[in-house]
Amino acid sequence: MKVIIQNSADDAARLAARIIAGQLRANPALVLGLATGATMESVYAVLAAMHRDEGLDFSRCRTFNLDEYVGLAPEDEHSYRHYMNCHLFGKVNIGLRNTRLPNGTAVDLDAECASYEAAIKKTGGIDFQLLGIGSNGHIGFNEPLSSLRSRTRVMTLSPATISQNQRYFENPDMMPKRAITMGVGTILESKRCLLLATGSAKAGVIARAVEGSVSSMVPASALQIHPRCAVILDEAAAAGLSEKEYYRWFFDHEPEWAEYH
Ligand code: GLP
Repeated sequence: MKVIIQNSADDAARLAARIIAGQLRANPALVLGLATGATMESVYAVLAAMHRDEGLDFSRCRTFNLDEYVGLAPEDEHSYRHYMNCHLFGKVNIGLRNTRLPNGTAVDLDAECASYEAAIKKTGGIDFQLLGIGSNGHIGFNEPLSSLRSRTRVMTLSPATISQNQRYFENPDMMPKRAITMGVGTILESKRCLLLATGSAKAGVIARAVEGSVSSMVPASALQIHPRCAVILDEAAAAGLSEKEYYRWFFDHEPEWAEYH
């Protein structure tokens, strides 16, 4: 795991977007894993601007999102499909048939989960997975106690997640209590991954995920065993880390990151 601390949330999002753009330029047929949430909105805004201003090409890219609410149709404005169409897919040159999210309205949800895993496998696997973190340490919707080997499945959301995400629903009771999510094991099989977290509300959970023990109680801590994982933070989200100076020194001296200074 490599931790990169940026001065502001904007700088952190811009760096995440530049890294994704770099991956896409190096491999135009990239299989990209995507995330939702407020944190990702600025990443997608930068990628959309790069497409508009620099011609960043998404035409051969294929995407798989981490998760989707059970029971929400794609056209529902609270669905993650709707979020992705608004924030990214509608703003870049990607064919919607190359974008996939779990279908939360499938009649047979277990079959949908199996077919999602099979579809990822068929592409040869996710080359680059973007991740956010929930305040309880979830990645995707892998709530505390998710097996570190879990695969795409239906997850019942925790009270913490429900209260964190209810703000997006005009009527809080309308928020689904279940979601389909890639598993922790699915995420760990991505070839590279990048977790982005900003803001002081994430400082505590970031300290546990990055410097605490690997534990299913904090699903994001599983990324410590991912062979190529970067964690990009702003100062506020990094506030609880004890080795900040080392991470800064490492970023300044690591040749792999030189192009991003
Ligand atoms: C949701 C998503 C997660 C995301 C999290 C953080 O719960 N399922 O994938 O990481 O939100 O969201 P935010 O960026 O709004 O804090």
